[in-house]
Amino acid sequence: MSDILVHRENAILTLTFNRLDKKNAITQAMYATLADELEAAAKDDAVRVVAIQGAAEIFTAGNDLMDFMMNPPKIGEGGELPSVFRFLNAIHHFPKPIVAGVCGAAVGIGTTLLFHCDLVYVGDNAALSLPFVNLGLCPEAGSSWLLPALVGHHRAAEKLMLGEPFYADEALEMGLANRVLPPNEVNGHVQAQAKKLADKPSASLVATKALMKKGQSHIAELIAAEGKIFGELLVGPAAKEAISAFMQKRKPDFSKY
Ligand code: COA
Repeated sequence: MSDILVHRENAILTLTFNRLDKKNAITQAMYATLADELEAAAKDDAVRVVAIQGAAEIFTAGNDLMDFMMNPPKIGEGGELPSVFRFLNAIHHFPKPIVAGVCGAAVGIGTTLLFHCDLVYVGDNAALSLPFVNLGLCPEAGSSWLLPALVGHHRAAEKLMLGEPFYADEALEMGLANRVLPPNEVNGHVQAQAKKLADKPSASLVATKALMKKGQSHIAELIAAEGKIFGELLVGPAAKEAISAFMQKRKPDFSKY
């Protein structure tokens, strides 16, 4: 079975993380599938809404750390854009509504991708986190601007610098989620909201989204700038220590970095 389930029903394209044995950690191949599907859906008039979801127990553990360490994605060196950046560009520029359903952990890009979605429904077990600093890395996906813009500098700094998980009620209160639901109702609710959107005039939704995002014209450039620094940090000693510590199930030692 594929690590990303792709399901088209009527005008709704649903992308489901499906790598449960690895907590839905996202490999380069999975980013490529997500990017391909979003790029195609953007051009396909038959798709009017996209839903992104995981399982009732886990959304995604974020980047697959092993895959990242073995094949660090590099930006700005010519050649083909790594699939993670293709995905980020595709979700950032996606012109139609995206509805997300998040249960359990949403680590790193599992949280930052939500800043590019339009409606976000979370299970009462949702645990969002942005542990980039704890991994010797830096924010990605435009989150260094989008999160402070959404929740203010101090709250964003707490989430980005300490990297501790925050939960469904706080996400709702901060405006990062639309509603908290029992986990087994989240994906059904996502589909119901997506269906409501799919029944509306698509051109009006596309225009509404474009107008709402007019102030974000610098985000594509920021995603590239963050990506360049992220790529450099990823091959640095602090990230190596953090990722080795995760794999060896021990606490990292940053005393030298
Ligand atoms: N990359 C690669 N493998 C991962 C992973 C990741 N991001 N997250 C989890 N896994 C793997 C674990 O190595 C483990 O594999 P194993 O069974 O072969 O040992 C398996 O998934 C289960 O993970 P485990 O940590 O035992 O699950 P848990 O329920 O105790 O914790 C998380 C779930 C998501 C909280 C925890 O796995 C975690 O913190 N993952 C890392 C998140 C992260 O740092 N992501 C990168 C952000 S940039």
